[in-house]
Amino acid sequence: AAPVTYQSEDATVSQGVVESNHTGYTGSGFVNFDNLTGSYVEYAVNAASAGSHSLTFRFANGTTANRPVNVTVNGTPVVSGLSFPGTGAWTTWQTVTTNVTLAAGTNRIRTTATTSNGGPNADSLTVDVAGEEPPPGP
Ligand code: GCU
Repeated sequence: AAPVTYQSEDATVSQGVVESNHTGYTGSGFVNFDNLTGSYVEYAVNAASAGSHSLTFRFANGTTANRPVNVTVNGTPVVSGLSFPGTGAWTTWQTVTTNVTLAAGTNRIRTTATTSNGGPNADSLTVDVAGEEPPPGP
């Protein structure tokens, strides 16, 4: 299956705001998590098939401190303390990928800040079937 990208500005946000003041984002903006533990962004992801999927988060962190988040799928913890290290500037965007098991159909994928700094600025989440990528050509 082709990867599908979900924009953070279209997700459900608790204790965060959609902003567009740092260039380089995709879509119409990004989510700035409030600087506190527990702020979250929740993406409604559709999986055509159950099984292992890759989650690729595009983010910026203009500080030098890691901004880890916990990841839950339909309320179940699946990744603890996923790291979002400093990217050098709020306008410098990088990706972090982790693999999780998804159910067929809708999956609520929530990323919740675990420190008082909140999460990174969150641009998007791209979901693919894990290992689906074709091998490099000759
Ligand atoms: C700055 C930056 C925001 C960022 C915030 C933070 O205010 O402009 O985009 O979200 O720092 O530390 O979280």
